[in-house]
Amino acid sequence: MIANLDGRSLAWDDTGMGPALVFLHGFPHDRTLWSAQLAALARQARCVAPDLAGFGESAPLPPGTASMDAYADDVARLLDHLAIDRATVCGLSMGGYVAFAFLRRHADRVEGLVLSDTRAGADDDAGRARRRELVALARREGAAAVTEAMLPGMLGKSTRARAPQAEERLRAMGAAASVDGLVAALQAMMARPDSTPTLPAVRVPTLVVVGDEDALTPPKQAEMLRDGIAGSRLEVIAGAGHVPCLERPAAFNLVLGEFMARLATA
Ligand code: MLT
Repeated sequence: MIANLDGRSLAWDDTGMGPALVFLHGFPHDRTLWSAQLAALARQARCVAPDLAGFGESAPLPPGTASMDAYADDVARLLDHLAIDRATVCGLSMGGYVAFAFLRRHADRVEGLVLSDTRAGADDDAGRARRRELVALARREGAAAVTEAMLPGMLGKSTRARAPQAEERLRAMGAAASVDGLVAALQAMMARPDSTPTLPAVRVPTLVVVGDEDALTPPKQAEMLRDGIAGSRLEVIAGAGHVPCLERPAAFNLVLGEFMARLATA
């Protein structure tokens, strides 16, 4: 679906029946990151996967307005449009940063939380310098060059050996992003606040997932999330890197399906 929500076009998939489960992709991805989850989880949840602004088929945020809060407010606007009051929010990496912002701004709409391959901390100086380089690269050479620069860290070594087509899928997602969208997201990530103080305030059932070969947000980061969120559970996906939902979809779907089933009976 693509619709104009408050003057900006937003694209999303919406499939299945049951409690709502919203999927937020990472950088530089789009909603197709979650296609295996939508296919499998539609049996037990209403799965909604938007393209965040400036990615896939969604228009970028107006210049100078990008922030994790702005992406989170887009998600709230989409839920309003779909008449969904509360949802479980599942975010991968940048999608996790958006999930933290959503929790701060729309806590009453969060039923459960899934944090995959993400971190609570803000960027350090080296991280911000790297973002500035990627902004310059995007403006100079376009979206594909940014994807190429990100690719080495995205997939685990097992996936690179076993499933080279995963790389092609990530390339296609990156190519769908606009340069304005990529630059806005990089600037928003650079400026995002530290979400560590948000962790003790999480009061909903939470699943933390990480690939054991994730080099960008290693398992240590996931353990910090698990330790910071009371009652949360950590699942490590063997043989996956930074995008276990795409690298080991069956394993990812299993832990997500179990989490949703537990949530339904809680
Ligand atoms: C992502 O996958 O969303 C990125 O690795 C996030 C980041 O660069 O911090």
